[in-house]
This record gives sequence, C-alpha cells and structure tokens, in this order.
Amino acid sequence: MTEQQGQDKFKADVFVPADRWTSPQRDAAEREKLWPKTWQLVCREDLISSVGNFCTHQILDDPVIVIRTGEGPDDISAIYNVCQHRGRKLVDRKSGTLGHEIACRFHGWRFGWDGALKSATNEDDWDGCPAFDKQQLSIPQIQVGRWGGFVFVNLDPEAEPLDTWLAPVAEHLDPFHLEECRPHFWARIDAPVNWKTYIEAFNEGYHSGETHIIGINYRGMKSPSGTHGPHGQFWSEASGFGEYKVPGKNSWKMSTTLQEHLWANMAHQYNTLFALTLEPTMKAAERLRELPDDTPPDVVMTRFYEYTVEETEKSGASFPSDLTMEASNRAGTDWHIFPNMIILPSLDGALVYRAVPDAKDRDKCVVDIWSLGRYPKDYAGPQEPACFADFESFRGNNPFLEEDFDNMEAVNDGMKSRGFRGATYNPYQESQIRHFHAMLDKWCGTP
Ligand code: FES
Ligand SMILES: [Fe+2]
Repeated sequence: MTEQQGQDKFKADVFVPADRWTSPQRDAAEREKLWPKTWQLVCREDLISSVGNFCTHQILDDPVIVIRTGEGPDDISAIYNVCQHRGRKLVDRKSGTLGHEIACRFHGWRFGWDGALKSATNEDDWDGCPAFDKQQLSIPQIQVGRWGGFVFVNLDPEAEPLDTWLAPVAEHLDPFHLEECRPHFWARIDAPVNWKTYIEAFNEGYHSGETHIIGINYRGMKSPSGTHGPHGQFWSEASGFGEYKVPGKNSWKMSTTLQEHLWANMAHQYNTLFALTLEPTMKAAERLRELPDDTPPDVVMTRFYEYTVEETEKSGASFPSDLTMEASNRAGTDWHIFPNMIILPSLDGALVYRAVPDAKDRDKCVVDIWSLGRYPKDYAGPQEPACFADFESFRGNNPFLEEDFDNMEAVNDGMKSRGFRGATYNPYQESQIRHFHAMLDKWCGTP
C-alpha cells in the first residue's frame, strides 16, 4: 500500500461526508428504509401497567398506540393509531386509559384493542356492500417487544425479533435490571436540531474535557469506544485525579485521594445532572471520605460498591444481586442502541435518551430524557414528562445537560455550510459514531 493509499484508507475509515446530514435524498431514505424497519422505543412499561392503559407515539408519518390488554407481562397490543374509515388519528391523547372499545370521534366507528372493527355507525347503510368487510377494515397490528422496562414497536412485520436485535446490549445491561427502576425525572424537549445531531452528542465522551467545564476538569480523561452488532458503546479509561470546583466556592481543588476524586465526581453529577448519581451513590461517596487517606485504591472501589448496595437497601429499594462490580465495570459508561436511543447505566439506575425525528422538519426532533433510579415498590415517579418548547426554555433545569445543548444548534447550523466537507471522527474515542454512520449507510444506502 502506498502512503497515499494508506492515507485514503485512514480517511475513508474515519470520514463521513456532510451529505449524510444535509441531503434530502438521505432524509427520504431514512423515512422509507430506516424508521419503518427498526425497533422504536414507545414508552416505559410502567406507563401502561394496568389493563386498558395506553401510550401513543409517532414514527414520522405513522402514529402508533400500545395498549396493556391483560395481566400477563406480554399482554400488550400494538396497532396503528389510525381509523380505517377516513384515516382520522384514532386516539388524540398521549397516554391514559381506554374503554374496551376505542371510538373514533369523527363518525364513531369502534375498534377493539387488537384493532378489530367492532361496529360502524349506521352499519346497515353498507348492507350488501362487498367493500365493507370487517376483517379488512380492522387496524393493522404491529410487532411489539419489551426489554429493560421499555416497550418497543417495529412497523416491519418481517423485522428481526427485539431479543436478538438487542442481544449485544442486553448481555451487558441486563444486570442493571432497568425494568425495576422508576423515573427520578422525565423531560421532553422540542429540540431544534436534526435527530442525528442529538444522538451523536451523547454517543461519545471525547467532548467532555472541552464542553463540561463547570464543576470537574475532565481534560485528562479518555473515553475509548467500541461497537456491538449495530450498536455502540464507550467507557472511561482510568486516568489520574482531576481538579474539581469546591461546592459553594469559586475555587478549584486537585483531589489527592481516590476517595476524594470519586466524591467530587459523584457530587457534581448529583448536583448538576440529577442522574446516574442519585441518593444511594451520593451517600456512599460521602461515606468514602471517612476512609483513611492511604486506603488502597481497590479497597476504595470495593467499599464504594458495598456502601452503594447498603444505601440502596436502606432506602427501601432492592439492589440487583447480579449487578456485581465486575458487571458494572464491564458495561462501561454509555450505550447507543441503533438508531435513536442512548443508555448510560449506573449502580443507581440509568440516564436514557430517545430522539424522534419531526415528520415535517428535518431540523427538529423530540427528545425524551429519563433519569431512572432504584426506589421502594410504592414509588411511581412522574407519569408524564415535563415538556419544554426548546433548549432555551429548558435552561435552569439541568446545568450538566445544558453544556451539551449549547453545542447542538451550532453543530446543526455549521454542518450545512459549504465550508464543511464532513466529519472526521476520532478513531479511538468516536469509532462508535463512525459505526453509526456505517449502519445508516447499510440501512439507507448512500445519498
Ligand atoms: S374517520 Fe373515524 S369514524 Fe370516520
Ligand atoms: Fe456531554
């Protein structure tokens, strides 16, 4: 291989042309080939915990509805949320409880939870009309699946089952038992950016040193990346201690022990992100400070894990028996579930993102953010999201995430410029986003 060929290969491996974000052909291909064929998160399962509970969702032009139909865990029906008379969206609400028949409020046709047409208003008007066939007029059913307390649908009847699709992720995240977690907070933002811009911002840790500057100096940290089937992952490489901003003061301090370093990082997440570090981990980190300064690092890490388990159980919640220190370390920091979901697991639960493209405007998406925690059984958490019209109106709610949001519109604008040829990813810390684009090319073709 010549030097030029070598450079071309390197460039081909890390370079993604700008048209992957800007070309109308790519938008059209995503609409036809990606969204109707990949597994899509609809809601947390606890939102449809009682028989008759439902949740609606929109996958570009396709409105869908999932309904809890019985007491069994898999008793969930998924159908298009479309009346078969003249196409009115059947259910307008986002979530709630349905009667046994879903009545369309245009002319009153009534459907069962499985989509079967039960009756039409003035049904005798169609007497002898062959086009009025109740079987034919039932609402098409959709594939539905559950994992980790999330309900997913796939519009493609031929799609790979959810279990095998998610297997590489589930292998690492199952020990966290996210199905037992409940939302600490749930926010929904009408984000003024393309869905990919949003997902990519949370699919690498390379930005941490430069973007996240208000409380911890992350500059010494590297976040290696990897891929698992269609999905991606990153984790954090052990690095030396960094500086942290002393809470309540305008000064920075260098940690001198591992326990101080852990406490400072946990306190920063607890006070600015409201996710990943919730009460149990924060209390555990506080207790670490009582250990003698010369405690060996492996003992500090073991104590941190043990204290977290104890604090979780003291709170009345249960801690999963298979969530060992090794399982937690193996899961790393962050997972991208192709195409539009991110999960950061932690001993306390998880931080979860979903970005749903706007059907009409490629520069908009709706993002949901769940901070999940371990709680006593009687804790339900928010049953609906706190909604925000844009990033600006979200300001003041989450200083950590606001640092991420501050980049997004600037990226979304900048990549449309004639002066931008494309993204050149860091092969060590951003390979999972490069892989994301390889997967998008595979599903959608190249523009
Ligand atoms: S559109 Fe639903 S009953 Fe007419
Ligand atoms: Fe970030």
